[in-house]
Amino acid sequence: MSTYGSFPGSRPRRLRTTPVMRRMVAETRLHPADLVLPAFVREGIGAPVAIGSMPGVFQHTRDSLRKAAVEAVEAGVSGIMLFGVPEEAKKDGLGTAGTDPDGILQVALRDVRAEVGDDLIVMSDLCLDEFTDHGHCGVLDEQGRVDNDATLERYAEMAQVQADAGAHVVGPSGMMDGQIGVVRDALDQTGHEDVSILAYTVKYSSAFFGPFREAVGSSLKGDRKTYQQDPANSRESLRELALDLEEGADMVMVKPAGPYLDILAKVAEVSDVPVAAYQISGEYAMIEAAAERGWIDRDKAIMESLTGIKRAGAQMILTYWATEVARQL
Ligand code: PBG
Repeated sequence: MSTYGSFPGSRPRRLRTTPVMRRMVAETRLHPADLVLPAFVREGIGAPVAIGSMPGVFQHTRDSLRKAAVEAVEAGVSGIMLFGVPEEAKKDGLGTAGTDPDGILQVALRDVRAEVGDDLIVMSDLCLDEFTDHGHCGVLDEQGRVDNDATLERYAEMAQVQADAGAHVVGPSGMMDGQIGVVRDALDQTGHEDVSILAYTVKYSSAFFGPFREAVGSSLKGDRKTYQQDPANSRESLRELALDLEEGADMVMVKPAGPYLDILAKVAEVSDVPVAAYQISGEYAMIEAAAERGWIDRDKAIMESLTGIKRAGAQMILTYWATEVARQL
């Protein structure tokens, strides 16, 4: 008995008493349709190659990618975001393999579209970093700096070849100024008015991209700080959002997700188009690594991380666990 009369008069715990009570009052529910699977396809391999820093994720062969796409459909996942990994010898300064109609990403887009039709939204990463020998997201000028406007010309060409290959959605991820407008124009001028743009609107220069660099065999030395955002900043995310909306983004994305939930919440509050978040390679690797050591409960940590991202305002979540989680939901 309390010695303070009838206190506590308010008891929030009443709504936490049983699993069904908690389920009834839950504000956030994950659904398979929220999820998009990022997937890697590598040229010239005979069997899938495990990515050491991302246990459970593989560089796919063309065949195993098709299977992964079918599994995603069966699990109720909404989309797949494809990344191409070319043969090392095909990388060059301009990222030519990224605009070759027979480059690995274009080949994979055709494969996956042939396999899934419209049952899965097929998306392609629109960026040069997987295809350049210097590993930057754009082409370089004589001083070795990333040349914004010369890069835009490459992106325009990439948009066209990716759309020709069957992408429903292209995802410009290089953080060049003006990239959304240029890609929209390129798509419209080549008869691809129906192809939509998922803009990587807010993308921070993040240490958590580390494992991805292994996943795509990145050649990057140095960093991307002259084009990706400074983690210390929040305001410029709203500026990037305003620009991308003005330039014609159909959907916008915040990336990484977990360390940037404040940014995601802000963007979600003001965006008038759907908002996605990308739970990136480092976020994946941290949970897998801690779970492997028995330090956290893997499945609960995965669900909690995704619930947090959705609660912060993401309608769509790109996550390497998409198929697995969709099966559990
Ligand atoms: C650029 C790109 C990157 C990621 C997605 N698109 C790498 C980068 O900007 O360095 C990262 C995805 C991840 O870490 O899971 N093509």
